[in-house]
Amino acid sequence: MGEERALIIFLLIALVVIAVVTTVSFIFMMSGAPFRGQARDFSSNGERIFFAGRNSRNAIDFRKGPPWFQMHGGGCVVCHGSDGRGGRVPMMGGFTAPDIRYKTLTMPHDDEPAFTNATIKRAITEGKESDGSDLSGNMPRWRMSDADLNDLIGFLKSLP
Ligand code: HEC
Repeated sequence: MGEERALIIFLLIALVVIAVVTTVSFIFMMSGAPFRGQARDFSSNGERIFFAGRNSRNAIDFRKGPPWFQMHGGGCVVCHGSDGRGGRVPMMGGFTAPDIRYKTLTMPHDDEPAFTNATIKRAITEGKESDGSDLSGNMPRWRMSDADLNDLIGFLKSLP
């Protein structure tokens, strides 16, 4: 009889442990932390937008971009790389993203005029090239405040 009781107690404890682990991991996943890099500390708002697609309050809204990006979200880093130099984005067929370091954007390139702060903001929010033509739909169109845009441009300037 004593053995049976011990077994029941053991099973009850095991159930409680499983319930706690499941609840904690569920809360962690729903918080979006694994996807949006919230666990990381950023030294500026511009850096946070670049890496996590978030300002100090919430995730920054966007339109367009490839379907996988619409599902997972994230920052500029996902396509333009942690050094901002762009390159091949291999997901789902793949495409290339350009170098968006401030010093590259503000030089004339690919037969396009140099970007200014105003046309960089327009590229980010409206998806326009420096000559006013449309960028491809792979570049998301971000709903960003002017303050956030200035912080982000400040971060692009800091990329070596
Ligand atoms: C899902 C991928 C993706 C993400 C995320 C993304 N971009 Fe882009 N971006 C692109 C692609 C692709 C292009 C080039 C489109 C084209 O040439 O038609 C582009 C072009 C640009 C350009 C124009 C550069 C040029 O030389 O014409 C700027 C500026 C830019 N992105 C800034 C950003 C910023 C800032 C963020 C983050 C807020 C961001 N992008 C996030 C894919 C992305």
